[in-house]
Amino acid sequence: MTPDLLEQGARRIEAHRAAMAARTGQTESGGRAAGFSRLHTPGEVDVTHGRILYLEEVSVSFDGFKAINKLSLDIAPGELRCIIGPNGAGKTTMMDIITGKTRPDEGRVYFGSTIDLLRYTEPEIAGLGIGRKFQKPTVFEQLTVFENLELALKTNKSVTASMFFRLDSAQSDRLLDVLHTIHLADSVSAQAGNLSHGQKQWLEIGMLLMQDPKLLLLDEPVAGMTDEETERTAELFLSLKGKHSLMVVEHDMSFINTISDIVTVLCEGAVLAQGTLAQVQADERVIEVYLGR
Ligand SMILES: Nc1ncnc2c1ncn2[C@@H]1O[C@H](COP(=O)(O)OP(=O)(O)OP(=O)(O)O)[C@@H](O)[C@H]1O
Ligand SMILES: [Mg+2]
Repeated sequence: MTPDLLEQGARRIEAHRAAMAARTGQTESGGRAAGFSRLHTPGEVDVTHGRILYLEEVSVSFDGFKAINKLSLDIAPGELRCIIGPNGAGKTTMMDIITGKTRPDEGRVYFGSTIDLLRYTEPEIAGLGIGRKFQKPTVFEQLTVFENLELALKTNKSVTASMFFRLDSAQSDRLLDVLHTIHLADSVSAQAGNLSHGQKQWLEIGMLLMQDPKLLLLDEPVAGMTDEETERTAELFLSLKGKHSLMVVEHDMSFINTISDIVTVLCEGAVLAQGTLAQVQADERVIEVYLGR
């Protein structure tokens, strides 16, 4: 056979193989990503190294002021991590960095061991499964509890797509499940604007849960809540632990005491101490900068 024909034949085989791969998503290794004794499905967070979130030596300055200063921290899948620290310690800024709102000057931020969050935009990071709750509730006051939760599922925001949006049965099940989780099953038809402050906070958490986030970041979730609402929120967070990973920033120590396993104390943009609440409360440096004498 002439070299020309051989080459044409090789090209045909290669084209066929590429077409098959494009059609089936299969490679010769069965479409699986190469790895050492682990299988990882694309699109899922790779937590085989036991970490869902990983920050290493992250720094950011605002007008020469280092708000985050070589911050390193990691969180295990299913963990409920509490973050405490004085005002201006960088807690909110850290969440801004994780969610892509603020870009750090240096350092690494990974979701699982393969997703480099610094390469994604804020909406893309939300889409990867990182939900964020700001302090102020931002529910749609004119809509009912049900409609707010339903709206949280609408990823395609075009008017026509929204008009023809119908919950499928899995989504209806999820909505009911979330309603019970956030203690609002009795208020499903209530207008969100008529809910108490605490209920609005739960509804907003419910809206995040509708998207089944892998990691939830909650900034001062019980600020402004009554004692009873705070207790119910503690129960809610404990019920979410394990199913989701949570990072909770709070100043309310009795709330932290109820929900915490590991507490990280942030100060001047870095980790000052870490351990059980009892351990960090006994730490002289923590007493000095935050808890007072
Ligand atoms: N976008 C910004 N521009 C300039 N300075 C900022 C910006 N964001 C945060 N800072 C500053 O960075 C520091 C850390 O603020 P951050 O809000 O992260 O603190 P915090 O730990 O959340 O405090 P608090 O407990 O009061 O909420 C503060 O000194 C703040 O003024
Ligand atoms: Mg803050």
